[in-house]
Amino acid sequence: MKNQPQAYSKTQIYLHWIVVALITFQYMLHGEISVLFQARMQGFVPDVPTASPHAIVGTIIIVLVLWRLWLRFTHGVPAIPKSEKMLAKLGSRAMHIAIYVLLITNALFGLGAWLFGLQFSSLLHIISAYALLTLIYLHVFAGLFHHFVLKNNVMKRIVGKA
Ligand code: HEM
Ligand code: HEM
Repeated sequence: MKNQPQAYSKTQIYLHWIVVALITFQYMLHGEISVLFQARMQGFVPDVPTASPHAIVGTIIIVLVLWRLWLRFTHGVPAIPKSEKMLAKLGSRAMHIAIYVLLITNALFGLGAWLFGLQFSSLLHIISAYALLTLIYLHVFAGLFHHFVLKNNVMKRIVGKA
């Protein structure tokens, strides 16, 4: 990482919340692609990828997540509050890295299934989607814990009010 800024940039904040909205869309609206994929696998429809909204939004997510990672390395991210214990600091960084890794691998497994009709890739896509969801729940819980219990500015800085 290049430096340690005092705050997230506006672009980082917008990207965080746009990705949250798009991920919510992915979890709520996957019925169409699931039915279509199974129909392809069972030979009811031709085994060719179509422009499904889930696939398009998922591909946009990959681009936005790569942009966020690039900003992490060029702009940096603000330091974890000094009051945090060493273990909590490590846990927080590890959690963010794990979310990034799962966001990208999950979407790549989805692409593997959709573009190349790979059953095992769809299985990995489903497993990684629920692993990612578990991390997202923990992440949201940690954010709320910082805001309401530890009462530091961690939540304020991701909404641009720090
Ligand atoms: C981070 C982005 C993504 C998330 C969070 C996500 C999440 C999900 C979820 C929750 C399911 C349903 C799992 C179930 O059956 O219970 C699903 C299914 C599916 N997704 Fe995604 N997805 C993402 C990106 C993509 C991308 C980029 C593609 C392809 C271009 C894709 C292709 C598929 C396919 C083909 C299925 C059906 C799998 C099957 O029924 O066997 N996904 N996705
Ligand atoms: C799809 C859901 C979400 C994903 C994938 C996600 C991902 C991330 C990632 C990777 C970071 C690290 C900062 C960065 O490098 O950009 C972050 C920061 C943060 N997120 Fe989320 N987030 C999600 C939802 C939420 C929600 C709903 C909340 C509010 C409760 C939230 C609160 C925060 C906070 C407070 C930070 C700042 C942590 C810090 O400064 O150390 N996130 N998020």
